[in-house]
Amino acid sequence: MTLLLTGANGQLGTLIKKHLTERGATFLEGSRTPPAGGRRVDYTDPAGLEQAFAGVTKLILISAPSGDRVTLHRNAVTAAKNAGVEHIIYTSVTEAPTSPLSLAVDHKATEEAIRDAGLTFTFLRNNMYHENYTGQLAHTEGVFVTSAGSGLLASAARDDFALAAAVVATTPGHENTAYELTGSTAWTFDDFAAQVASITGKPFVHKSIPAAELRAGYVAAGLPEEAAEVFTDIYVHIADGALADVRPDLEKLIGRQATPLADSIRAAVGG
Ligand SMILES: NC(=O)c1ccc[n+]([C@@H]2O[C@H](COP(=O)([O-])OP(=O)(O)OC[C@H]3O[C@@H](n4cnc5c(N)ncnc54)[C@H](OP(=O)(O)O)[C@@H]3O)[C@@H](O)[C@H]2O)c1
Repeated sequence: MTLLLTGANGQLGTLIKKHLTERGATFLEGSRTPPAGGRRVDYTDPAGLEQAFAGVTKLILISAPSGDRVTLHRNAVTAAKNAGVEHIIYTSVTEAPTSPLSLAVDHKATEEAIRDAGLTFTFLRNNMYHENYTGQLAHTEGVFVTSAGSGLLASAARDDFALAAAVVATTPGHENTAYELTGSTAWTFDDFAAQVASITGKPFVHKSIPAAELRAGYVAAGLPEEAAEVFTDIYVHIADGALADVRPDLEKLIGRQATPLADSIRAAVGG
């Protein structure tokens, strides 16, 4: 078995590398800027992808962060098929086939492309990372603004998702399976704010505002329109419960409870 990890220099990829290495796995690193001995993987370059995947039997395909992701991912799937890859492990999103999130459209199409190619698949349908929120704490003064209302979010630490990916890549029994990966509990942004206040000892509150206001605020702060729309859309669907369900799959794969939100808050604020 020859394993290749794409997106190996990204935040998730770096953590997957750590877990693969700890598990004694050998693997190739795929990136647009690969290290010596790695493969140059650029989803915009179909011919280069086929070269990159030559001799690879198992591929961890990390979804691109932006761009025309359906085209980019289809390029990767076609190249994998042509190069003889047998099994793709793909980082998807919660309930991709039916999710109301706008970003799920790309994941649904990619899952379909992998199935249509006749490749063995494992879909890692990751809920949100804790770090999407804890990562904002360094530049948030006292008030965390969302449009999430009192919606629950079953997020998990990025490192737990990475460990799950490494487990799937290095153990048998995950063929043609979709895992719904979530934290062990769900929380509201009021809970989040209360935990931040308790850990830092400083006042910290959550304020939920209408989606149009949030979107306009992001744009005024310099975010591109498309990103502002996607971030707002996630909060809107947290409000209506699309990311609320706690599922057992992550715990089963990593063999323990998922990292609590409070631990990720402490890691972010140094508490
Ligand atoms: N569940 C969540 O909460 C959540 C949050 C954010 C993102 N995501 C998704 O999960 C993915 C991984 O998350 P992350 O935190 O590791 O994001 P990240 O740090 O931004 O890493 C993104 C990765 O995508 C790769 N990439 C970008 N454009 C590419 C291209 N044209 N061809 C090949 N690779 C390309 C980069 O690889 P190189 O630079 O090494 O080439 C990089 O490693 C993201 O890309 C996004 O699809 C999920």
